[in-house]
Amino acid sequence: MQNKILIKNKITQFKKKIEVSSDKSLSIRAVLLASQAVGKSKLSKLLESEDVLNTLKAIKKLGIKYKKKGKIYEIHGNGLNGFKAKNNTIIDAGNSGTLGRLILGLLVKFEKKIKLVGDESLSKRDFSRVTEPLKNFGANIKSKGNFLPIIMQGTNFLRPIKYAENKGSAQCKSAVMLAALNTPGTTFIKAKKSRDHTERLFKILNISMKLIKKKNYDLIEVKGLKQFNSFEYIVPGDISSSAFFIVLTALSNNSQITIKNININESRIGIIKILKKMNCKILFKNKKIYKGEPTADIFVKSSKKIKPINCSSYLNSSAIDEFLLIFLCAAKANGVSRFRNLGELNKKESPRLDLAIKMLKMMGIKVWRKKDNINIYGKQNLNLSGNFHIKNYQKDHRVAMTAVIAALSYGGNWKIEDVEESIKTSFPNFLKIIKKLGAKIY
Ligand code: S3P
Repeated sequence: MQNKILIKNKITQFKKKIEVSSDKSLSIRAVLLASQAVGKSKLSKLLESEDVLNTLKAIKKLGIKYKKKGKIYEIHGNGLNGFKAKNNTIIDAGNSGTLGRLILGLLVKFEKKIKLVGDESLSKRDFSRVTEPLKNFGANIKSKGNFLPIIMQGTNFLRPIKYAENKGSAQCKSAVMLAALNTPGTTFIKAKKSRDHTERLFKILNISMKLIKKKNYDLIEVKGLKQFNSFEYIVPGDISSSAFFIVLTALSNNSQITIKNININESRIGIIKILKKMNCKILFKNKKIYKGEPTADIFVKSSKKIKPINCSSYLNSSAIDEFLLIFLCAAKANGVSRFRNLGELNKKESPRLDLAIKMLKMMGIKVWRKKDNINIYGKQNLNLSGNFHIKNYQKDHRVAMTAVIAALSYGGNWKIEDVEESIKTSFPNFLKIIKKLGAKIY
C-alpha cells in the first residue's frame, strides 16, 4: 500500500457524473438489524469499507451466518437475542465508533462475557456515553475509565429506562434503541436532534415504536421483545462521501458534477444548507423515497464567489462529519465565517477541530478560537504555493480526504501521509474517483 501521496496541481474544468460509496451509517445499521431479524435478509450495495466489514466480522463472531452471493449479502438472523458465542469472545470494532457503540446495545441481554476492543483511535474515544445508559438497563459493564477495552455481560433481568440524550449523538440514541429491542416494557428516549436512520429502519421493519418529532428534540418510545422479520435493503450513496466532491466542485473553476443516488435525509444535509447559504450552486434532481429514506442525484457547479456564514449551531448535528470541508469553503469566503459549539468535533476519529485549525493556519488562514467556537477569516482569492505536509492525524479518514480536496482546490505542493490506509474506513474508492476527474496524484 502506498503510504503517502503527493499532489502538485490544482484541478479545474471537469464535468462528470459519478457514484460515490454507499452510506456508512445505513450499512452498519442494516447489518446489525439483519442480525436480529428472523430469517434471511438481503442487503445490496452494502458499503464494503473497513468499518462495515468489521461489523460483518462482529456478527459472525456472535454466531450469525452470512454469505455474499454475487453483489448481495445474505444475513441469517436468529431473531432477538439470537447471538451464540463462547464466554470471553473478543469483538474488534476497529476504527468505528458506530459499530462499537451500537453493538453494545445489542448485547444487553446476551449472558456471555464479551470483550470489545478497537484500534488506537477508537481506544481514545469516550464510551461512557453509551455504557452509562446501558448499565441502567441492568447490563454488567467493566472498563478502565471511560475507554475500551470493555467487558460486557448482559442479563435476563433487564428493565426499560427513561433516557435523555443531550449531545445530539445518533450513536448514543441508537445504542439505547437497540438495547430497548431486547428489554421488556417500554423504553422512553428524549433525544436532541441527530441523524434518524435507526428510527426510519425501525419503522420499515414494523418494530413497535412511537416517534414524536418536536422542534428541538424527538420523543421515542420502543416496546421490547417483539420479533421482527428479515428484510431486503439497497443502501443509497453516502452524503458524507459526496461532500468531498461537492466542495471540490464548488471550489474549482469551470466544473460541474452529478453525484448519483445519494441519501438526502433531512438529518444529514446540514452541509448542503450551509454551502447554499455560502452561495454554492447545488441542486437535488431526480428525488425519490426508498424505504423511508429520501434520495436524489446531487448536481453542483463551480461557485464564483463564496460568501461567509454565521453558522447557526442548530445545523451542527446534521453536518457533524462535514465541518472540515465547510471550513475549507470558509477559507475562500469574502469575509469572516463564524461557527459555534463544535466540541463534539474533537471527539471523533481524531480531535478534528484542533486539526482543522492547524491545517487552516498552515494554509495561511487566520482563525480565532475560544473554547469550541471559531471564526475563520476567509481570503477570496486564496491560492497556495509552497510545501504542505499532512501527518500525525491519527489516520482519520476525513482529515486525509479533506487534505486532498484542499490540495486540489488551492494548489501548492502537498505531501499527505497514510492516505490509503485511512480512507479504507469509509471510502476505499476515493482516490480512484478523484483521478477519474483528472487529478494527478503521485
Ligand atoms: C454516526 C453518528 C455520528 C457521526 C458518525 C456516524 C452514526 O456520531 O459522527 O460518523 O452512524 O450514528 P455521533 O453520534 O457520535 O455524533
